[in-house]
Amino acid sequence: MEQLLQQIEKYKQEIAAFAAAGADEVEQFRIKWLGTKGLVKAVMGEMKNVPNDQKKSFGQLLNEFKSLAEAKLEELQQSHAPAAVVTGPAIDFALPGDPVTVGSRHPLTLVRNEMVAIFKRLGFAVAEGPEIEDDWHNFGAMNLPEDHPARDMQDTFYIRKPEDGNGPTWLLRTHTSSTQARVMEEQKPPIRVICPGRVYRNETISARAHCFFHQVEGLYIDENVSFADLKQTLYFFVQEMFGKDVKVRFRPSYFPFTEPSAEMDISCQICGGSGCNICKHTGWVEILGSGMVHPKVLENFGIDSNKYTGFAFGMGVERITQLKYQVNDLRLYSQNDIRFLKQFTGVV
Ligand code: DAH
Repeated sequence: MEQLLQQIEKYKQEIAAFAAAGADEVEQFRIKWLGTKGLVKAVMGEMKNVPNDQKKSFGQLLNEFKSLAEAKLEELQQSHAPAAVVTGPAIDFALPGDPVTVGSRHPLTLVRNEMVAIFKRLGFAVAEGPEIEDDWHNFGAMNLPEDHPARDMQDTFYIRKPEDGNGPTWLLRTHTSSTQARVMEEQKPPIRVICPGRVYRNETISARAHCFFHQVEGLYIDENVSFADLKQTLYFFVQEMFGKDVKVRFRPSYFPFTEPSAEMDISCQICGGSGCNICKHTGWVEILGSGMVHPKVLENFGIDSNKYTGFAFGMGVERITQLKYQVNDLRLYSQNDIRFLKQFTGVV
């Protein structure tokens, strides 16, 4: 018994003095002392030889011995732990990712595309013309000779006025009707085109007016084209654009390039006709000017006005967009405010 106690004491010293050079020696320590065939187990096995009256105190001693070996192993394992593979802050895989910002088409582009698509279904081709125009295509050819009072209907940005001398007058086109002139110059009837584009007028910028805006012009010339064709075409257009419930009305008007001329109103798409600021409490909104192409305009391009007739119309893309998306300040279209533009993400 005395011998066993001395042996345990020696073991304790050995354990306390032990130092490992690496993880391999730690493992050897574990096997030697705490393995299934280790010394701690062997010493425990001596319990059966201990006289009954000493069992309690010997048991305590053994427990201390075992705890010592275990504590030493843990200490060794910690100081020889393999280096952590992942360093840096913990990653939260459940966090949502950063949103991907997707661009959007400009609302005016969306509406112009839709307008073009509708007229294409009726067989209209697309024609485009220059934004910097000469006086003839913008005014003269459209039956607005110099000094014609109707020139005052549109405040023009001139690039070179007649009084500047030397050569033709240049201006920023005031309407897409100038593209009608260019089409008639180049094509013979039957002609069926729409001309989308940007136009310019010398207006003070406000919620209701801008110095540039967009139009879509239409021109249809053939034998036997009548005012009924004009009405039906435009009625089809607004039904496709705004739905079958839209109502239309034509009011007599005046444009130098058409005779007779009419403006077309539709039932207000904002208030449904009950009256609001947009329709000035009338329930109707004007969306376009139109008419039968003036014989003089046809003759300007050598088109026989006894054989051919035609209709034409011009409408503002901003106005159609306002009614479709309830945009009530024209300036929003050109301010590039991301909060406005974002609302059209995903619209195609
Ligand atoms: N050019 C006109 C404007 O800007 C709109 C217009 C009216 C175009 C009648 C036409 C038309 O082709 O026939 O106010």
